[in-house]
This record gives sequence, C-alpha cells and structure tokens, in this order.
Amino acid sequence: MPSEDKVQIAPANGKLGVLIPGIGAVTTTFIAGVEAVRRGMAVPVGSLTQLATLRLGKRTDNRTPKIKDFVPLASLDDLVFGGWDIYEDSAYEAALNAAVLDRAQIEQFKDSLSAIRPMKAVFDHDYVRRIDGPNVKQAATKMEKAEMLMEDIANFRKQSNASRLVMIWCASTEVFHRPAAVHQTLKDFECGLMKNDPEIAPSQIYAYAALKSGVPFANGAPNLTTDTPALLDLARDRNIPICGKDFKTGQTFMKTLLAPGLKMRMLGLNGWFSTNILGNRDGEVLEDPGSFKSKEESKLGALEHILQPQLYPELYGHFYHAVRINYYPPRGDAKEGWDNIDIFGWLGYPMQIKIDFLCRDSILAAPLVLDLVLFLDLAQRCGMRGIQEWLSFYFKSPMTAPGLYPEHDIFIQLMKLKNTLRWMRGEDLITHLGLEYYD
Ligand SMILES: NC(=O)c1ccc[n+]([C@@H]2O[C@H](COP(=O)([O-])OP(=O)(O)OC[C@H]3O[C@@H](n4cnc5c(N)ncnc54)[C@H](O)[C@@H]3O)[C@@H](O)[C@H]2O)c1
Repeated sequence: MPSEDKVQIAPANGKLGVLIPGIGAVTTTFIAGVEAVRRGMAVPVGSLTQLATLRLGKRTDNRTPKIKDFVPLASLDDLVFGGWDIYEDSAYEAALNAAVLDRAQIEQFKDSLSAIRPMKAVFDHDYVRRIDGPNVKQAATKMEKAEMLMEDIANFRKQSNASRLVMIWCASTEVFHRPAAVHQTLKDFECGLMKNDPEIAPSQIYAYAALKSGVPFANGAPNLTTDTPALLDLARDRNIPICGKDFKTGQTFMKTLLAPGLKMRMLGLNGWFSTNILGNRDGEVLEDPGSFKSKEESKLGALEHILQPQLYPELYGHFYHAVRINYYPPRGDAKEGWDNIDIFGWLGYPMQIKIDFLCRDSILAAPLVLDLVLFLDLAQRCGMRGIQEWLSFYFKSPMTAPGLYPEHDIFIQLMKLKNTLRWMRGEDLITHLGLEYYD
C-alpha cells in the first residue's frame, strides 16, 4: 500500500530538451531511434523506461505495471534535441558518417536529423588528441566559453520552447586526469575558469554551464568531469541531479553479469583477459594512450568491486585482470569483444570460459541514453539532487558519494533502481524475504 510520505513529483508537462555535447555515432543512433519509435516504425528494444515492468506488492497481487505507466516520464513525443560538435555536420550527415544505421533507414529521418545542426563546441586538443574540427568557440578564457555555453542553453530553451532540459555527454573520451587543486571548491574552479587553468577539461566547462543553468547532467564517457568536489557541490547547492560515468554497454555489461554469478557460487578466479577491436571514431580517439587510460580505469574497477578480494583472498586475492582496445577500421561500430576467463573450482581444478561478443556499440548505447535522459528529468521533478546512485545500472564506473564504494553488481543495481521508483511512488520496497507466503 502506498505510504503517507509520498515524494512530490512535478508533472512532465511541456517539452523536454535534450542537449548533447558530441553529435557522433551514439547520439545520432539515439535520435534516429527515438524518431523511429515515435513514428511507430520500431520497438524501443533495450530501453527499461519504455519496455520494462516492475512488480508492486506481493507476488500474489498481480500488479506489474510498465515503468512508464508507473512513474510520470516525459513522452517520447515531447523530446526535442540540440547539441554541440567540433564538426559542422548535421545529425543527418553525422549519422551517415558513423554508418551505424543503414543508409536507407537514415534517409527516412533525413528531415528531422538535418534540422539538428551542432552549435560551436568548447574543445581543447590537449584533452582529445586524435581529432580536430573547425566548429569550435574562440574566446580568451574558459569562463567566457562557459558563458557562451550558457547562452547556447538559454537560446535553445527559448527556440525549442522546452519547459525542462537535460544534458548528456556523448562526446569523445577525454584524456585521464585526476582531480587537481582547481577542482576542490567552486571558488577555486571559477577562479581557474578565469585564469584558463589547464586542469579544467572541456567536459567540465559544459557540466559547469549546465549546472549553472539548472540543467541535470549525465556523463556517458569515462572522463573525470563532475567527479570533483567543486562540481558535486554546485549540483547539490543548486538542487540538480547528476550521474555518470561511462555507459555500460558491451564487455563491462557482460562482466557485471558474469562476475556476480561466479562469486555467488564461490568459484575462484585466476585471470580475466578482455580485448576488443573497434573501428569507429570512438575507437580512433581511444588509440591515444591518455584517452585509453580513462577508459581502462573505468573498465578495470568493476571486477575488483564485485569480487571483493579483501573478503575472499583465497578466491580472488591474486587474479590478473587486463583490458585492451585496438582500433581496427574495417569493423566500424561493430565491435568484437573477447574475454578469456580462467576460473577454478573444487580442489582448485582450473576451468575456462570464453566470451566472443559480436556487438554493435551504438546500438547498445542508444537505449541507455534514452533511459538516462528520462530518469534524470524524473529525478529533477522529484527534487532529487547531486549524485543519482540509483542510475548506477547504466554505468561502467558509477559515481558515488565520497567514501562510498560503487555497487557494480548489475542485479543489485537493478533492484536499487526499481526500489527507488517504488519509493518515489510510496510503494513498499521489495526485499524478497517472502516469509509471509508460508505463514
Ligand atoms: N557506444 C558505446 O557503447 C559507448 C559505451 C561507453 C561510452 N561511450 C562513450 O560515448 C562517447 C561517444 O561515443 P561515440 O561512439 O558516439 O563517439 P563518436 O566519436 O562517434 O562521437 C563523439 C563526437 O564527439 C565530438 N566531440 C569531441 N570532443 C567534443 C567537445 N569537446 N565538444 C563537442 N563535441 C565533441 C566528436 O567530434 C565526435 O563527433 C565516447 O566518449 C565513448 O567512449 C560509448
């Protein structure tokens, strides 16, 4: 039964503007897919917000509404899109260039995709080294660039007639950086923007502009971005939800499915070797060791946290874990990810598991973008602020409050997500205790 203290959820009235730095493979696949679903030409496969149900009450109650009928999400018909890129290509040209979708399919959405023309980007070649483009803002300081982004946001809000906005980073992976002195407080950060501090990345300028404009921010790449005290404080002070980072799509998705299973059965692990070939622009950017380092850090964390070697030293105390990504142009977006997993069982006898996932990167990522946009907007309308840990389900490297370790087990992540939705609507949380059925 719904409890008394229900969360107040503002209605999803009007249009929801989706602002995206990076009009590349993921973004164009996402937008074209939303168009296809809106026109009744496709099923939104891979999207929890559109397809999944959740159980309410007891197993005998037979209450399993769709998530979208249970919480007030923005309708796909109300989404409007805008974004930035260093290239001048419209979303139509970028979709053709990314070649994720068939040309014939892209042509069907030519009009709406062509209407999305990227605004000039905030770009710094020191942060993304393998690409360069002409569509870049020029200004003397990073603060001026942030102000230009805020102007873009305000103009988009007006022109699109959006009542609410969400920003989601789908641009290239920036090189690995740790938080520096300039990231410690908002004052330091703003001072750094004015002084062009080299430790401030373009993604942080976008995030700052979004938060200052009251816009929730999600990070789909492994860059540091909002994982800094200054931007976390800004999100909390302004009551804005944020989440990240790095979409959990292919290999890490498989890893977080399998590793909890091995641990549940108390099977040991000697080594997990993961390698990928990838031929899209993302793959090209990840050839740069700095960008790869961001990705590697994000991909390596999952196993350590799921297997908890400190608690199970005899099973997981010494496993070898490596992740490789190689740029291999012939494959384009159709990535192939191999995993070789050396496990051991009863009396230490070794066994092996091999995974060969012939996946499509952007096809896996697009529904995650949709869900994150809709859930972040929901969180905003619920008055939730700061890190949205319940959205960890979608990320390789989930953000958490300082001092908390991230939850990587995808089954726990899903339970947390669904329980958060139940909590929003004042429904009982599901614990799976179930003793009452046997009373
Ligand atoms: N597809 C997946 O499965 C997946 C999974 C996890 C994370 N990601 C991340 O999502 C991001 C997008 O992936 P993609 O395949 O679409 O890449 P992509 O290279 O096709 O698109 C990224 C776009 O960002 C643009 N860009 C770079 N820096 C920018 C800036 N400062 N401002 C605005 N635009 C900028 C590039 O010009 C490019 O068009 C990457 O960071 C990738 O690592 C993707």
